[in-house]
Amino acid sequence: MNGNSYLNCSDEGFRHHLREEHRQLNEELDQLNACCLGQQECDVQTDWNTLRDRVHRLRDNIVHHFREEEEGSCLDEAVARRPTLAPEAREIEREHPELLTELDGLISWLDDEPVAEASLQSAKRRLNVFAENLRRHELREDALIRRGVGAFGVDD
Ligand SMILES: [Fe+2]
Ligand SMILES: [Fe+2]
Repeated sequence: MNGNSYLNCSDEGFRHHLREEHRQLNEELDQLNACCLGQQECDVQTDWNTLRDRVHRLRDNIVHHFREEEEGSCLDEAVARRPTLAPEAREIEREHPELLTELDGLISWLDDEPVAEASLQSAKRRLNVFAENLRRHELREDALIRRGVGAFGVDD
């Protein structure tokens, strides 16, 4: 936990903001998945560049999102209110660096791989695996915060 006072998980507005960020990340993952990969009318080099740009933007957004979550200390607060959640909260926390390492590996691979149709298909498969891992993380996180702190917003 750290002392960034404007981020506070007790505040319903902040929880709502986090939920909105989860929704936006999900949308970004859908856009990546829909990226024009391997379709006949598409140029492989253009697709590759688009994909790389989007993956880099996704990384920036994820870094920002994880930092806000850590500063807002929602998992800590959930544990403070319901101590039995501690083991799961620590597991979820450990996933932040793991997910970033996974994404960085993917970015390095995209940087080094020669641009080709087969590489685009591999990139899409690898991205789908990462997207699944990130979605699973966010769902676990949502569920744990809801159990410990309460709903994310009025329309929950
Ligand atoms: Fe998270
Ligand atoms: Fe999250």
